[in-house]
Amino acid sequence: MNSKIIVSNNVEELSEHFAHMLIQGIDAAIDKFNIALSGGSTPKAIFDYLAMNYQTKIDWNKIRFFWGDERCVPPDHPDSNYLMTFEHLFDKIKIPEQNIFRVDGDNKPEAEVQRYSGVIKKNIPSADNIPSFDLVMLGLGEDGHTASIFPDSIELINDKSICAVSQHPALCQKRITLTGTVINNAKKVIFLVTGEKKSEMVKNILNKNEGFEKLPASHINPSEGELIWLLDKEAARLLN
Ligand code: 6PG
Repeated sequence: MNSKIIVSNNVEELSEHFAHMLIQGIDAAIDKFNIALSGGSTPKAIFDYLAMNYQTKIDWNKIRFFWGDERCVPPDHPDSNYLMTFEHLFDKIKIPEQNIFRVDGDNKPEAEVQRYSGVIKKNIPSADNIPSFDLVMLGLGEDGHTASIFPDSIELINDKSICAVSQHPALCQKRITLTGTVINNAKKVIFLVTGEKKSEMVKNILNKNEGFEKLPASHINPSEGELIWLLDKEAARLLN
């Protein structure tokens, strides 16, 4: 695994880095470029930036969109990661319907794990018998979670399934998440982290401070792939 940390002055600069990595990956892809998107609020500004500045500079028709995690809510629910992506990206850039592989948050969680695992198995090429995304986009929670693998469900990092049901520890909201086994089998994993609130967690993970093993994001290390931390300067402020 090779990894690097890139610190940007602001979210525009960070988005530029992300856009270039996206373009690099798409150009290198033989056929489609399979990406698993992250949710939460960080991607909003990044998707807005891409929609504003990369309408024509990215071959959007080559990208197939999956999600690294989704809340078990309908697609029009304010918590839906799909809705967030639609409002900040898909509503501004025409993406062929057949290239969007939404997690069905309306489905029963266990049934959706089976269904979505089947969708991934069918559409994502495998490496060592495990689906291998071209790119997995991740955020970082203040508790060190990533995707929807929380500290109290850290066993999902090594779970051999493709997807699993998890639950937000505070909200008790059910989630569907990729397991760490699939995330770590990606060709490239990019953490996108902004804001001062994440700086303590970024420092603990990247400096491997005491207790870092208890943090799910610490265990994201794509064995054959590349790990990139795209940080703004606020999130990176405690790094030496
Ligand atoms: C989600 C996520 C989650 C998110 C982090 C950071 O569905 O919420 O995918 O892992 O990336 O919680 O969230 P923010 O970007 O809102 O800080």
